[in-house]
Amino acid sequence: MGESALRYAVDFVSTVGDRSAHAGNDYDAAAREHREPPPEFGGGFEPLLGLMDAIVANSANNAGPGFLAYVPGGGLFASSLADLLSTSIDRFVNLWGEAPVAAQVEANVVRWLCDLFGYGPDARGVLSSGGSMANFSAIVTARKDKLPEDFLKGSLYVSEHVHASVTKAAMLAGFPVRHVRSVPTDPSLRMDVEALERAIAVDRASGLAPFCVVASAGTTNTGAVDPIDAIADVAEREGLWLHVDGAYGGFFQLTDRGRERFRGIERADSITLDPHKGMFLAYGTGALVVREGRKLRDAHHIGTSAYLQDLPDDADVPNFAEYSAELSRDFRGLRVWFPLKLHGVSAFREALDEKLDLAEHLYEALKAMPELELPWQPELTVVPFRLRDADDDANRAFLGLINASERVYLSSTVVDGRFTIRACILNHRTHRDRIDECIEIVRRAAADAT
Ligand SMILES: Cc1ncc(COP(=O)(O)O)c(C=O)c1O
Repeated sequence: MGESALRYAVDFVSTVGDRSAHAGNDYDAAAREHREPPPEFGGGFEPLLGLMDAIVANSANNAGPGFLAYVPGGGLFASSLADLLSTSIDRFVNLWGEAPVAAQVEANVVRWLCDLFGYGPDARGVLSSGGSMANFSAIVTARKDKLPEDFLKGSLYVSEHVHASVTKAAMLAGFPVRHVRSVPTDPSLRMDVEALERAIAVDRASGLAPFCVVASAGTTNTGAVDPIDAIADVAEREGLWLHVDGAYGGFFQLTDRGRERFRGIERADSITLDPHKGMFLAYGTGALVVREGRKLRDAHHIGTSAYLQDLPDDADVPNFAEYSAELSRDFRGLRVWFPLKLHGVSAFREALDEKLDLAEHLYEALKAMPELELPWQPELTVVPFRLRDADDDANRAFLGLINASERVYLSSTVVDGRFTIRACILNHRTHRDRIDECIEIVRRAAADAT
């Protein structure tokens, strides 16, 4: 079974670039065809691989070089192999005494993430299932640190382009959604810091308790980076927790350009990262790092349970379960550690630098096309564009023409109330050849659309 599965996986990965960027047409029918109860009696393994074919033949090719929609990741094969190995040995990582070497490996990853942002020895963090859960833990930690038990007057501040997971996190943490204050942005779509200060003052005067501000290190819509240093000044002055959502952009901190754009990020109380985006891993790994790690633990630990009393206390190697909502979970650390050991940090830095170059190249090429308007220069690797002098329906049809190529797959958003197409370049398999092809596809589609 192992050999068959591995053969299938190797074959898929070897040909992933030749496959359609978005395969299949009738997704409803494809899903319906596979609606079935579990069998009472089992069968062979080989037929199960046919199911993988059906999945691949009816899906967006997230792992492929033409996937420029939403926020890509890619699925580094070393991380898939790490998953196969870690789930095969099936060790428990969340209480260190059960598998100290595994817990140490995960602690190494978390330490590396803390170092990346200049966090000192008191910092701690966790690997989560993704950025949404990391944002949730961050808001819960901020709430515990800054507000009394009766916290319902708490209000938090986000830019109007913040990812929905932050608002959802606040809602799950018990706050009315109306207490998530949407701060307007400047013409570059970055949080307007003066508007932030005004909103805090107005809310204080009306009896609310401002406790947290969330800056985006790259918004999902356009990749805009909020002015983190200036927001940190406000947070410091006002006694607010500063959380940075770097789920999309955080790993650009590895590059010179990223560090320059994220100036002040080391002043954040907590940072969300998504290795399944910026480190190109398969889905299932986010991260939260917290500058004063004990605050993360204070917000998540309720004391040792009797049935776990045989295990050692949190120590140099953390009991990660005491820093998150999860007890049993997969060994995410290996999934991150394998690719780091195999490729080295420099490979990730170079790949991210390449993506920044590709975004600049795409922007310049599209900007030279008279049929298009590109209102925002990319700060990271999202390139938003629209047909000039065209309505939303025409732009929607234009996106359809681009995606009909099946060589690239882009998605859309709404900015300033207008339908906006965006290409997001963050897959380790996306290189200059595919971006050049994308430019030609857009050129042809623009000619057809106008
Ligand atoms: C800026 C930002 N924050 C949070 C998230 C949510 O992360 P996840 O999908 O890993 O839960 C995303 C996802 O694209 C994102 O772009």
